[in-house]
Amino acid sequence: MRLIVADDEAGMSRTAADLFCEAVAAKPSSSVLVATGNTPMGMYAEIAARQAVGQCDCGQLRAIQLDEYLGIPAGDRRSLYGWMRRSFIDPLGIPDAQVMRLAGDAADPDAACAAFTTAIRAAGGIDISVLGLGPNGHLGFNEPPSAADAPTRVITLTEASIESNAVYWGSRDDVPRRAMTVGMDVLLAARLTIVVVSGERKREILQRMMSGPVSPDVPASLLQTADNVVVVADRAAAGELASTSAAGVRR
Ligand code: PGA
Repeated sequence: MRLIVADDEAGMSRTAADLFCEAVAAKPSSSVLVATGNTPMGMYAEIAARQAVGQCDCGQLRAIQLDEYLGIPAGDRRSLYGWMRRSFIDPLGIPDAQVMRLAGDAADPDAACAAFTTAIRAAGGIDISVLGLGPNGHLGFNEPPSAADAPTRVITLTEASIESNAVYWGSRDDVPRRAMTVGMDVLLAARLTIVVVSGERKREILQRMMSGPVSPDVPASLLQTADNVVVVADRAAAGELASTSAAGVRR
C-alpha cells in the first residue's frame, strides 16, 4: 500500500483525481467501481472539471455501483445509485449503456448479487476501484467481520454504519438496516485501488487499515494484501502516518 498525504481535503481530491485521470488516460474504457459517501465528492468534482477543459476524457468508462440499500428503488432520495448518478455518471456524461446498477429493489436480492459478480467478471473485472473508508473499517458495505473471500451479497448494517450514514439522510430512522455490497473478493482483485480518507475522525481507523493486523475485523486492512493500492489522505486523517509510513510518498 502506498500512502500519499495531502495538506488538506482539497489537496486530497486533486491528488486522487491525478491518479484517476492517469489511469483513464492509460485505458479510456476502464471499468470503475464508484463509491458514494462524502469523501470522494471533491475528487469527482475535480475529475468533471478536468474533463470540461479537455484534460480527462471519461466518456468511455464503465461505471459500476459499489453498494446499495436493500429495498430502495432508484428514485428514492436515499438511493446510492441516485447519489452515484448525481456525483459521477451525470457530471461525466457516462452513457446509460455503460452503467451497472446494483439493484437494491431486486425481487431476489441474492440472485441479483450473484448476477452482479458474474457481470463484473464478464466486463473483465475492475480496472479502477475508488473507495472511501468507513469509520468501522468497512469498504462499501463489507461490514466487520468480512473475510477476503466474502462475495457480493446482502448484509445487515452495523450500529456504527447506521450512525455514520444517518448524517446523509437526516436521522437514524431514515437509514435502511440492510444493504447489498460488492464483495471483498472483487475489491481485492481490482487492478488499481484509490482509497480517499479525510478528517481527524478517520485517523485511528486509517492507522489500523495501513499498519494494523490484517483481519476480517477491519475489512480495509485486507487491502494490505492487494496489489496496487494507493491511499490518499489529508493531513488531519494521516496524523503520524504522514511522517512514519515507510512506504509513504509525500506530496
Ligand atoms: P464517508 O463514508 O466518505 O462519508 O466518510 C465512507 C464510508 O462509510 O464508506
